[in-house]
Amino acid sequence: MAGECITLENPSTYPGFHYNSNGFASGKYYRSGQRISTNRLVLLLLLLSSTLIVLYAYWDVMVLTAGTLPLARGTSSVDSMESGLGNESLAEKLYREVRVLCWVLTTPKYHKTRAIHIMRTWGKRCNKIYFMTSEPDDELPTVVLTKPDRYEVLWGKTKEAFVHIHEQMRNEADWFIKADDDTYLFLENLRYMLYPYSPEIPIYFGFNYKMVGTHQKNESYMSGGSGYVLSREALRIFAEGLNDTSKCRQEDDHAEDVEMGKCLFNLGVKAGDSRDEQLRNRFYPVAPFGALLSGNVGLDFWLYTYAYYNVRSCMDCLSEYPVAFHYVNSKQLYVYEYFNYQFQLSGRAPVVERLPKKIREEELVIPESDNPMS
Ligand SMILES: *[C@@H]1O[C@H](CO)[C@@H](O)[C@H](O)[C@H]1NC(C)=O
Ligand SMILES: *[C@@H]1O[C@H](CO)[C@@H](O)[C@H](O)[C@H]1NC(C)=O
Ligand SMILES: *[C@@H]1O[C@H](CO)[C@@H](O)[C@H](O)[C@H]1NC(C)=O
Repeated sequence: MAGECITLENPSTYPGFHYNSNGFASGKYYRSGQRISTNRLVLLLLLLSSTLIVLYAYWDVMVLTAGTLPLARGTSSVDSMESGLGNESLAEKLYREVRVLCWVLTTPKYHKTRAIHIMRTWGKRCNKIYFMTSEPDDELPTVVLTKPDRYEVLWGKTKEAFVHIHEQMRNEADWFIKADDDTYLFLENLRYMLYPYSPEIPIYFGFNYKMVGTHQKNESYMSGGSGYVLSREALRIFAEGLNDTSKCRQEDDHAEDVEMGKCLFNLGVKAGDSRDEQLRNRFYPVAPFGALLSGNVGLDFWLYTYAYYNVRSCMDCLSEYPVAFHYVNSKQLYVYEYFNYQFQLSGRAPVVERLPKKIREEELVIPESDNPMS
């Protein structure tokens, strides 16, 4: 099992490469002279690789038990899942086990220019998807809200949408993600990120911003544009608690994401850390282009100033497992689709993936903000 991993990840360990690696490699003379010892060489290699595996396993256990990681972030521990997968891919397994209901905030004006294209691209990978709007549409699974289509009442629409989902659809999924009609979501990576958490933990995830104005140290909110995902328990707490005038804004105006953040914070819903194992963000409130190039704009760039966890922007600090990008127009949706679901790079070695470790609620540690800027 583990031996397979090694050959997949390091194709150069195949016999044949080794002759070249010890310097006096090339000539035919050398190769024929060495043929007798090939068996021994293979044996030696096997011995070496088993030693490496044992060392790796030892290190694995040491790291886990020493508790040196800020969060049990997973990749270093093999869940017993792997062997139980059978012919099912990891994505298929996660589709069954981490059910995600997506809801997209839109308006009739954008049904044919945005919503329909989301349906044809990332939307089809949600376990369920609904478009929250003010008029029905034959081609879309819509939920018609009573609030008017005005930007100023986005907070009101969001409350109405989540209450409707809680009352009518809470058994359809484990997690409930709100997205805009110019968001792109990678559902596979979202499920992979959520896998360690039980939907019974009161928690939500997204791109984390520090709360502006006077606030407690751990108070934050998630960008509305890159979307945020609530556990089933967080959904229940929100739907049952939002009438509390001391905790949630009763009017429908103000910034939707900020009000959502305040309300959930006051209701005791935890703001989860959505970064990957290498502490790279997985939700981006900008498009990849902006996230890659914002390194050129200086440290006063708004993303740096307000990010709860410090954003570094450069080519190699975007996560390899991103969940969400914002400001993706409907033409770009198809470009994302092509490059992620059709495109193959000839000769690229397959990556061995393992499920992250489950996290119990009592061992959940959410790191404080690491952004020194206020
Ligand atoms: C996996 O195998 C089962 C039975 O062997 C089969 O019914 C099922 O369609 C297979 N699934 C896939 C995704 O190949
Ligand atoms: C919150 O208030 C609305 C409007 O008055 C009401 O319809 C709803 O039932 C209330 N929700 C709860 C959980 O009390
Ligand atoms: C914020 O921090 C306070 C004090 O450490 C803690 O009691 C509270 O549970 C935290 N709130 C959330 C939502 O994490």
